[in-house]
Amino acid sequence: ELSGDLERAWRLMREVPDFPEPGVLFRDISPVLADAEAFRAVVYGLARTAPDADLVLGIEARGFLLGAAVAYACGTGIVGVRKPGKLPAVAHRVDYDLEYGQATLELPEGTVAPGQRVLVVDDVLATGGTVAASSELVRQAGGEVVGAAVAVELAALGGRERLAGLNVHAVFTV
Ligand code: PRP
Repeated sequence: ELSGDLERAWRLMREVPDFPEPGVLFRDISPVLADAEAFRAVVYGLARTAPDADLVLGIEARGFLLGAAVAYACGTGIVGVRKPGKLPAVAHRVDYDLEYGQATLELPEGTVAPGQRVLVVDDVLATGGTVAASSELVRQAGGEVVGAAVAVELAALGGRERLAGLNVHAVFTV
């Protein structure tokens, strides 16, 4: 039963203080992913967001794990958006600010096609910088972002406001 499994997922969420920097409370979904029922409930929760998507974009690194499962559930392909220096062929690159520091994301060549309807998937929405950068990559490739789906939204960090105009869905909000 899915709602019981979502409760299970909620209980399995781990809070790690002072990671990766002092003062940051890190939300770790690793124990959720490791539990069959909790994992399935979260994946279906994410997959419901954009039934009209025809491609899923997963963000390194935990977004890969969720994104691939969501793509399989939706019957779409999956694209991994990566941190710099990992891809053999880069289609587009975006620099952006993170909650703690600076970051760059890259879209692999030969993935998002013009006109494709893309669902962006990640584990955590914090300031929204990562989802905004990923959405920008999709647009640069000529795709359309039909939604962003995250396991956990950290509401106090204002990601949803920053992503105004985007259909943002969170399985859990803290
Ligand atoms: C975390 C998280 C999101 C991002 C959210 O990634 O997995 O991708 O931060 O932050 P934002 O909304 O403020 O942009 P992290 O930098 O920990 O990378 P990792 O998943 O590779 O560990």
